[in-house]
Amino acid sequence: MDSIRIRGGPPLMGAIEISGAKNAALPLLAACLLTGETLTLSNLPHLADIATMAHLLAELGVDVSMNGDACNGGYAGRVFGLTAARAGETTAPYELVRRMRASVLVLGPLLARNGYARVSLPGGCAIGTRPIDLHLKALAQLGADIELEEGYITARAPNGLKGAHVLFPMVTVGGTENLMMAAALAEGETVLANAAREPEVADLARCLIAMGAHIEGAGTDTLHITGVKCLRGADYTVVSDRIEAGTYAVAAALTGGDLQLIGGRMDLIEALADTLVNAGAEVTETADGVRVSGAQGPLRGVDVMTEPFPGFPTDMQAQLMVLMAVAKGASMITETIFENRFMHVPELCRMGANINVHGASAIIRGVEELSGAQVMATDLRASVSLVLAGLAAKGETVINRVYHLDRGYERLEEKLSACGAVIERIKGK
Ligand code: EPZ
Repeated sequence: MDSIRIRGGPPLMGAIEISGAKNAALPLLAACLLTGETLTLSNLPHLADIATMAHLLAELGVDVSMNGDACNGGYAGRVFGLTAARAGETTAPYELVRRMRASVLVLGPLLARNGYARVSLPGGCAIGTRPIDLHLKALAQLGADIELEEGYITARAPNGLKGAHVLFPMVTVGGTENLMMAAALAEGETVLANAAREPEVADLARCLIAMGAHIEGAGTDTLHITGVKCLRGADYTVVSDRIEAGTYAVAAALTGGDLQLIGGRMDLIEALADTLVNAGAEVTETADGVRVSGAQGPLRGVDVMTEPFPGFPTDMQAQLMVLMAVAKGASMITETIFENRFMHVPELCRMGANINVHGASAIIRGVEELSGAQVMATDLRASVSLVLAGLAAKGETVINRVYHLDRGYERLEEKLSACGAVIERIKGK
């Protein structure tokens, strides 16, 4: 397994190209199952999770043509042509689903197009049990017969799905995406109330509309979907990754640097931008993205609670904690979305951070400086928080198990070293 070695200290200066969003690309890839025509997706990031989803789609009989890289400056956004012409395999196997929970996003489209789907239950993951009960209950409301057997979901709708009024008891991004794709081909009107408002959900809605779906309310908490008989192919460009942009924004503030986030979208990171400004950093919108520079004086502690969009994103919680670890004064971060998303805390404490977890909240008391150490990555966002800590820490940090990072950050070392970071990947044995 590879590891990453960082020598902390240099302020990050320069420009970073923000890639297409992983969490938009994954449902967009699954959407190809809804039509027999070709869906062409551009600006796909080079990530392990994207390759895993492409592998799963190929297993399901989709013809996946990776049309090389449509260069857009320094980093290429990949272009995939996806054609699910024949009603192929309708089983998403455990060995693929366990590697990436987002594989569950093929359930809605497979069921809607074929009237049948068999998808492995994803099982838990490091940050929580992450059940999909809300996906299944809502699909049942659209008339699907759902059975759980031998760790698999078998969903049947031999006479097709029928529109229904679905109220999600809690906001679920994946649940909203699965149901939006299923409802697009259901008979009649579906309302999704208390729907997720994440930009990646809105991106999926826009792509489905380009494919001929009738969807209103994208980006709001109520989606109105009128089913159609069939959907057509489309050409669609994946939205910019707000979490990647947010991560590098924190890196600029943390190292007292000045970064241009090219392709970053201020409208997608407002809650984070407000938090960084309250902490003393400068965040400004520019013609080609967002510019973030470190605080002139010491960083200030800020209290934050993670919430569904447009609130502060849970996927930025670990990264913000690193900034708070070296801010002046105390701060409290409350994680309301997942039940176990503080696994970066013990590793940060080994680097000298002063953090105490009390249930869903972490109290952080700022210290002068972190010190480099050997640390262990546990999940995607915890891993990148350790990279951020290494960039600011005194001395050398070595992060093990960086395969977690490769799931969500495209060319991380390249992008950071181009801005002055002393960072290198050490190939595993
Ligand atoms: C998506 O996961 C993202 N992943 C996550 O990003 C992100 O953290 C999460 O949304 C919240 O924003 C992708 O888009 C691929 P949820 P998802 O359904 O859809 C509970 C990253 O780091 N829940 O909104 O799985 C669930 O347990 C990843 O990029 C149920 O109880 O998240 C969680 O506590 C991590 N039953 C909460 O809802 C259900 O049926 C939110 O989950 C569904 C969800």
